[in-house]
Amino acid sequence: MNIKVCVGSSCHLKGSYDVIQALKDVLKKYDVEDLVELQASFCLGHCAKGVNVKTDGIAPEKAEKSYTALTDGTLLLHNVTKDNAEEVFVREIYPLIEI
Ligand code: FES
Repeated sequence: MNIKVCVGSSCHLKGSYDVIQALKDVLKKYDVEDLVELQASFCLGHCAKGVNVKTDGIAPEKAEKSYTALTDGTLLLHNVTKDNAEEVFVREIYPLIEI
């Protein structure tokens, strides 16, 4: 699975590099570093809802306003911060990882 953290100018100002570090720590904590590739991305087109994090899959039964299901079948998580990165990971990303 791939996780792409937006490092466009708006998300950068909202702390995307802190989010990347927080997600690195979370991937290590949950021992899924080998299963998830963490990448930086250019602007994902939802700047007002940054920091945005794009994943490979959709979890349709999950929270309503915390993500956008994109037309390419991916999931765009909104308002991710270093402080809620673990919560977002556990709620939205971890269930999608094929262990
Ligand atoms: S800068 Fe992150 S979505 Fe535009």
